[in-house]
Amino acid sequence: MQTSVTDKFNRGLRDLRVSVTDRCNFRCPYCMPAEIFGERYQFLPRADLLTFEEIICVIEASVQLGVRKIRLTGGEPLVRSNIERLIEMISSVKGIDDIAMTTNAYLLDAAAHKLKKAGLHRITVSLDSLNDAVFQKMNGRGFSTAKVINGIEAAKEAGFEIIKINAVVQKGVNEHTLIELVEWCREQHIVPRFIEYMDVGTLNDWKLDEVFSAAEIIDLIDDKYPVEPVDPSYLGEVARRYRFKDGKGEFGVISSVSQPFCGDCTRARLSPEGQFVTCLFAESGKDLRELLRKGVNKKGLVEAITGVWNKRDDKYSENRSSMTIPKKKVEMYHIGG
Ligand code: GTP
Ligand code: 5AD
Ligand code: SF4
Ligand code: SF4
Repeated sequence: MQTSVTDKFNRGLRDLRVSVTDRCNFRCPYCMPAEIFGERYQFLPRADLLTFEEIICVIEASVQLGVRKIRLTGGEPLVRSNIERLIEMISSVKGIDDIAMTTNAYLLDAAAHKLKKAGLHRITVSLDSLNDAVFQKMNGRGFSTAKVINGIEAAKEAGFEIIKINAVVQKGVNEHTLIELVEWCREQHIVPRFIEYMDVGTLNDWKLDEVFSAAEIIDLIDDKYPVEPVDPSYLGEVARRYRFKDGKGEFGVISSVSQPFCGDCTRARLSPEGQFVTCLFAESGKDLRELLRKGVNKKGLVEAITGVWNKRDDKYSENRSSMTIPKKKVEMYHIGG
C-alpha cells in the first residue's frame, strides 16, 4: 500500500541517503582529521553494520512513504565489500527511479563497470581541487589526483552519462584553484558543484570566516566566464544552478550556510548501523536496527518511520545563527553529507 508522510512543516519524504560504512580511505581534515582517525581508531565492527537485506527492508518501507531516490554514501561507499550487490538489490525495488552514489573515486577505476552493470544511475565525485599540492592536503593522505581522474574516466567509459563533482570550498585553502576545476569540467562535460564549507559534526573546529560564500564563488567564476542562473532541475534541488553564457556547460553552488534550503528538504539519512536521521545536523537518530533485529515486519517499520517523520521539525541551517550550537551532532563521515 502506498501512503505518504509529512513532517511538521508539511515536507514529504522523497530521498533516502544511505551511508554504507563509517570507513574511508581519505582523511579530509574537515571530515575525518588524521589525528583523530589514526591506526587505533575503532570503526564500527562488521556485526554492527546493517546487512544489505536490512538496508533493503528500510528502503522498501521508505518507498511506501514516498521515497523515490536513493543515494549511497559513507564514509567511502566503495570500501564496503560487494557494494555492487546492494545496488543490484536496490535496482529491483519497485518505486525507486534514481540510484546515485557519492564517492571520492579513489577506487572507482576498478569498480565503475560493475557499478554500472548493477544498475547505478549516477555518480558524484568528491574532488576539492585539481591542484595536486592542494588536493594532497585536503585529502589528508597525500594522494595525488591521478587515481581520481582515472576513476572519472573509467566511469565515463563504463557509460555513466551524468557525472558531477562536489568541491568543498574552504577560504584560504582551495578557492584559488576553483577556476582550474571549472575549466577542466567544461572540457570534460562534467557539472561541478561548489559547496560552502559547513559546520557539520563536531570534529572540524569550523569557523564562519573559513566559509567562502556562494556569492563569492559565483563572482569569481563570472569574472572569468560570464554566467547566468538556471531554474532548478527538480523541486527541492540542493544546488543552485548557473550556466556559462558561452553555452559551454554549467555549475552549481550549495549554499547551506549563506542561503539555507531547509524549506524544501525531503531528505532522510540512514547511518551504517541503522540510525534513521532526519537532518544532517541532528544530534542522533531513531535506531531501526534494533527493530529489524527484533523481527519487526514491514508494517511495523513503516509505522516507526512515519512516527519519526511526523515529528520532524528540523531546520538547522535556517536557524543556525539564532540557536545555540548543539554539542552533540552526527558526524559527516558517518552520515555522508
Ligand atoms: P543531486 O541528486 O545530483 O541533485 O545531488 P544532491 O545535491 O542531492 O546530493 P549530493 O550528495 O551531491 O549533495 C551535495 C552536498 O550538499 C552534500 O555532500 C552535502 O554537503 C550538501 N547537502 C546535501 N543535502 C543536504 C542537506 O539536506 N542539508 C545540507 N545542509 N546540506 C546538504
Ligand atoms: N562542509 C561541506 N561539505 C562537506 N563534505 C564533507 N564535510 C563537509 C563540510 N564540513 C562533503 C564532502 C563530500 C560530501 C559527502 O560532503 O566533500 O563531497
Ligand atoms: Fe572520506 Fe568524503 Fe570524509 Fe573525505 S569527506 S574523509 S573522502 S568521507
Ligand atoms: Fe535538511 Fe537539515 Fe540540511 Fe536543513 S539543515 S536542508 S533540514 S538536512
